[in-house]
Amino acid sequence: MTWVDESGVSVRASAKINLHLGVGAVRPDGFHPLATVYQAIGLFSTITAAPADRWSVTCDAAAGVDIHAVPLDDSNLALRAARLLAAKHGVETPVGLHIDKGIPVAGGLAGGSADAAATLVACNELWELGLDRPTLMGYAADLGSDVPFALVGDTATGHGRGELVAPVEDNGSWTWVVVTSTEGLSTPEVYAEFDRLTHAAPDPAVPEALLGALRSGDVRALAAAIANDLMPASLSLRPQLGKLLDAGLDATAYAALVSGSGPTCLFLCEDTDHAARVAHALPAYGHVLVATGPVPGAAVLRGVH
Ligand code: C5P
Repeated sequence: MTWVDESGVSVRASAKINLHLGVGAVRPDGFHPLATVYQAIGLFSTITAAPADRWSVTCDAAAGVDIHAVPLDDSNLALRAARLLAAKHGVETPVGLHIDKGIPVAGGLAGGSADAAATLVACNELWELGLDRPTLMGYAADLGSDVPFALVGDTATGHGRGELVAPVEDNGSWTWVVVTSTEGLSTPEVYAEFDRLTHAAPDPAVPEALLGALRSGDVRALAAAIANDLMPASLSLRPQLGKLLDAGLDATAYAALVSGSGPTCLFLCEDTDHAARVAHALPAYGHVLVATGPVPGAAVLRGVH
C-alpha cells in the first residue's frame, strides 16, 4: 500500500553498492578508515513525511522485501533524521514518516541510510527550511557513514569513515544481479571479524584501475577491478555465501562480490538479458533482483509547495 497524505512530501532514495571497499586498521574512535567507491543502483525506497500529532514511522514492503527487521520505534534511522533536523532548527511540530521499502533490509545495501537521507530532504522541504546540500551532508554524516552518499547518489568515492564523498566520472550503465538473504549480518560484527582476520594498512586507497574502468564504460575492465576487503570476514561469518558467489560465476556472471558488509551478493553482467540468465540460476540462494546503476541520489517525487 502506498500511503499518501495531501500535506506530505515524498522523496525517493536508492540502494548503494561498493565497487571497491578498501578498509584500513581500526581508528581510536572504533571506526575504520575507508577508501571506497560507491554506486547508487536502481532499487528504491520512498519516504513520505507529513505533519502528525506525534513522531512516528510506519513501513510497507515492495514485492519480495522482508521488513520484519525494520524498527518502528525511536531507533529507526529515518525518525532519528527527522528529530535531528527538528532539534537543529527549532521545529516543534511532530512529523509522521511512512517508508515504502523497495531496498532489501540489513543486507549491505544501506537501505536504512537511504531512508535517513530521504527524510532529511523531505523534512527540509516540508518545514521550508531552505537548507543547502552541504548543510544536509553534515547532518547526514552525523547519522551514519553511508548517509551522505545516499544524498549524492550516482558513483562517488568515499573516504574518512565513508562520509567524505566526492563524485567520480562514470560513463557506464552497469547491470547487477542482486541476491539478498532473509537473515542479515551485523555490520559491527563483520568489522570485528575483519579486525580478527586482517592486519590492515592504516591508509587504504582507491585503485586507479577501477576509476579507469568506470571512465571507459568497459564491463570486463570493471569486472577485473571490483573488490571488497570485508568479503573474507563476511564469508567467515556466513560460509554459505561462498557457494552463492561460485554459483553466480558458474552461471557466467563476469564478477561476484559481497555488497558492503553483506550478506547481499552482487553479480556484474553484460546487460539485462545476461542478468536474467544469471538470475535464473540463483533463486535457491535467496531473493534475486536485477538493478542497473548509476542512478541519482535522494530526490523529491511529490511535494506540497
Ligand atoms: O556509521 P554507521 O552507523 O553506519 O556504522 C555502523 C557500525 O559499522 C559502526 O558502529 C562500526 O562498528 C562499523 N563501521 C566501522 N567503520 C566504518 C563504518 C562503520 O567500523 N568506516
